[in-house]
Amino acid sequence: MMNFSLFFYLCFFLVNWISCSNHKDPVYWRELSRNALYHSKTFLSDDDIKQAKNVIIFLGDGMGMPSISAARLLKRQITNKNDDHLVFEQFDHTALIQTYNIDYAVPDSAGTGTAFCTGVKTNRGTIGVNGNVNYKDTNCELLQENIVETVFEKAAKSGKSVGFVTTASITDATPAATYAHVSSRYDESSSSLNDDKCKDIALQLIEDHTEYRVMLGGGRKNFLPKGKEVGKREDNRDLFEEWQYKLGNQTNHHHYEFVSTKQELSEIDYDKVDYLLGSFCENHMKFDKELKNDTSETEPTIEEMTVAALQILKKNKNGFFLMVEGAKIDKAHHTNQAFYSLHDLLAFEKAIIKAQSMVNLKETLIIVTADHSHSFTHSGSSLMTNDLFGFSDYTDRDGKNFTSLIYSTGPGYKESRNYTEKEIKQIDFAQISAVPLDSATHGGDDVAAYATGPGSNLLRGSQEQTYIAHLMEFASCIGDYEHEPHCSGCKMLICSTVIIMIVFISHLIRFSF
Ligand SMILES: *[C@@H]1O[C@H](CO)[C@@H](O)[C@H](O)[C@H]1NC(C)=O
Ligand SMILES: *[C@@H]1O[C@H](CO)[C@@H](O)[C@H](O)[C@H]1NC(C)=O
Ligand SMILES: *[C@@H]1O[C@H](CO)[C@@H](O)[C@H](O)[C@H]1NC(C)=O
Ligand SMILES: *[C@@H]1O[C@H](CO)[C@@H](O)[C@H](O)[C@H]1NC(C)=O
Ligand SMILES: [Zn+2]
Repeated sequence: MMNFSLFFYLCFFLVNWISCSNHKDPVYWRELSRNALYHSKTFLSDDDIKQAKNVIIFLGDGMGMPSISAARLLKRQITNKNDDHLVFEQFDHTALIQTYNIDYAVPDSAGTGTAFCTGVKTNRGTIGVNGNVNYKDTNCELLQENIVETVFEKAAKSGKSVGFVTTASITDATPAATYAHVSSRYDESSSSLNDDKCKDIALQLIEDHTEYRVMLGGGRKNFLPKGKEVGKREDNRDLFEEWQYKLGNQTNHHHYEFVSTKQELSEIDYDKVDYLLGSFCENHMKFDKELKNDTSETEPTIEEMTVAALQILKKNKNGFFLMVEGAKIDKAHHTNQAFYSLHDLLAFEKAIIKAQSMVNLKETLIIVTADHSHSFTHSGSSLMTNDLFGFSDYTDRDGKNFTSLIYSTGPGYKESRNYTEKEIKQIDFAQISAVPLDSATHGGDDVAAYATGPGSNLLRGSQEQTYIAHLMEFASCIGDYEHEPHCSGCKMLICSTVIIMIVFISHLIRFSF
């Protein structure tokens, strides 16, 4: 009996250990997603699989399905057209995406960003490393050993231009997931590092990623030294200046531009600029609805930043990789401010519409997805004719009004529940929440992914989030997938070499007789 239970426990631990170590092993995720991708291929003929020269991923942070459905309704209420859709809902291909991190069922942007940027799932709070690195691990050697390369880094190596646009700080988790490798997403500047042997996110961007052509967003405090403007860096370095020196001193004398206002961004001469760094505020940028529509406004819209990014990236004949993050969809949900969140989702949609008009759709894979969902629901019963931000047509069991849009957690909690019509119509109103928290938690539900363009037909089914990275890498023929049959560049090279050799040999044969 003793022996049997000992045996049982040993088995139990062994099975547990194997399943855990599986998830920590980057190979596990790579194989899983590669197999899923090859499975998707079996539904298509070889001719249906096309190479994407360019890839744009539009990432709605915290943009779960309830946000998308509610924003669609908001759009209809604004345009007064009952059949209006969000533009990406009309893309040809969709899939459901499982967002959990290795250690957390309800994930964060760092872990999820790592999944769709590298094809490897990791622990919550960590960026650009595999599951062997724990959140806030201070062992920098361990970190170095467990770095996973991002598809943006791979795209740059293969000669494409890369860049990102975000409405958060340019060191925030999602943009950082394209370039950084840290054990904590909060290592944004030297002031937040406990161990100065590891490099902070801002420093990694400026020192290790001079190949980045476009970096637009907020986050000035993480690049400037203490004592200069809003600077928070404790190493006395001005990384904006260093970036300009670095590019200025490169032998091929790149044309670069650093901008810090909407006005400066609008004055760029794109024929003359190949590298663009823009940081428009101290930390995260404003909500779209907070932006003033006059010359006093210093922050550009997400659409304006996307246009700037494409003007520069489009110049490379080898193609480009761009991420555009609608970051404030998530930030507004954290404070239960549905009005700001859903309007930011519509501003994000405008950037997608604009981008579609600026690129060759036949050679550009466009993916629209979210990193994770949120604690947001549109569950209060409401008539089609009700204002989306108004009361439900029910009252609660005490006869009190409640809003149609509700959060499960967050600062909108109010014990008295004595909401007035006037109060809920304020644009900064925090919607009802069931659990009082300073900041709402994310949602653990699956998110959607929508795609159009070459490679988009491989987006199907219910997938792990790592699938997105593999799809981008596969479609654009970079990294592990550069020799796939659909990679025309390589096929053409082989073809033309063979043709030249045949012609050459046939000439040789003719002349030798
Ligand atoms: C090159 O770098 C040095 C400092 O390292 C700086 O003084 C100089 O202005 C830079 N050159 C250009 C063209 O930016
Ligand atoms: C901003 O103002 C201009 C002119 O005053 C107007 O044409 C434009 O539509 C406005 N934009 C927005 C987003 O309101
Ligand atoms: C609920 O809201 C409706 C519409 O604004 C209002 O007429 C009614 O008096 C409110 N009820 C309570 C209990 O506040
Ligand atoms: C709602 O209830 C709170 C707490 O009881 C009270 O302070 C507040 O004045 C009330 N507001 C309205 C509009 O009745
Ligand atoms: Zn969040």
